[in-house]
Amino acid sequence: MTNSASLRNALSTQVVGRTRELELVIAALAADRHVLLEGPPGTGKSTLLRAVAQGLGIGFEFVEGNAELTPARLVGHFDPARVLNEGYDPTVFVDGPLVSAMRDGSLLYVEEINRIPEETLNVLITVMSEGELNVPRLGRITAAKGFRLVAAMNPFDAVGTARISGAVYDRVCRIAMSYQSAEEEQAIVRRNTEGSSVTDAWLSKAVEVVRRTRSHPDLRVGSSVRGAVDFAKVAVSLAELRESTVEQPSVGVDAALVALSGRVRVREGGVRTSEEIVTEIWQDVFGRVEGEPGEGKAGAPMNRGTTSL
Ligand SMILES: Nc1ncnc2c1ncn2[C@@H]1O[C@H](COP(=O)(O)OP(=O)(O)OP(=O)(O)O)[C@@H](O)[C@H]1O
Ligand SMILES: [Mg+2]
Repeated sequence: MTNSASLRNALSTQVVGRTRELELVIAALAADRHVLLEGPPGTGKSTLLRAVAQGLGIGFEFVEGNAELTPARLVGHFDPARVLNEGYDPTVFVDGPLVSAMRDGSLLYVEEINRIPEETLNVLITVMSEGELNVPRLGRITAAKGFRLVAAMNPFDAVGTARISGAVYDRVCRIAMSYQSAEEEQAIVRRNTEGSSVTDAWLSKAVEVVRRTRSHPDLRVGSSVRGAVDFAKVAVSLAELRESTVEQPSVGVDAALVALSGRVRVREGGVRTSEEIVTEIWQDVFGRVEGEPGEGKAGAPMNRGTTSL
């Protein structure tokens, strides 16, 4: 069932490429293992997991990992108002996502697991190894068959990445998600700009600009494909607004600046701003045009042509 053609087809409508990663996730889940997807932001971890859960027809509890995810929020709590009248009766317990997933035998998907507080992480670690959980005044909850934890995290995120290493890594199967090929990133952007008149040639250059932010020596962090999608979408609407085309340099640079200058992080000690660096990359990819934006004045207000708003 798990590798049927229909499942593959269903997945390929939602996920561009990632055939191997999809196979690995499906295989690990079929083997009843917990899974950790590790990769930079925007590499399709959530997209892939949603597609797999949907494709396999399994239930899915989604939890956003952050500092406010206390054990009570994850596990559940006794409704204080009802406890006054009814006492600590099991019917008064409000299941949190962990208990729901354990009872239903479904997937618990925790985003950004490295951001959750230590005590919450310890609850998950116990459940992963024991398959059960002891909740004060409620008793022991045993995970139904099919319960699995799927976690995602960004390896380059300084906050807490080291903290989770030993105990969590030893209880999960890890699948690394790196950036996809240029062709696959173009296909992702194309899916998000369907119906627009953007040409393949322009789109491949836009993706190239974004990819170069990842290896630029002055940038510590580059943009994910999310930046490429925004770049293309903003370029399309800006061209419309200015009664111009995405090929027009003033439209292209402004769209690139809006989409990318906040996403990239300049290396400490660098003298240039993110606007200057994005403009330079745009010029390197799309070509420098005499008298056009960025000529010696990167990031300066752009010539908007004759259109008035
Ligand atoms: N392989 C892919 N197929 C289709 N869309 C993709 C793919 N990879 C990324 N995307 C698109 O890029 C965006 C970011 O993907 P997603 O949210 O899945 O990334 P993520 O790895 O979960 O990011 P984060 O670490 O920030 O949570 C989404 O809008 C998604 O549609
Ligand atoms: Mg995600």
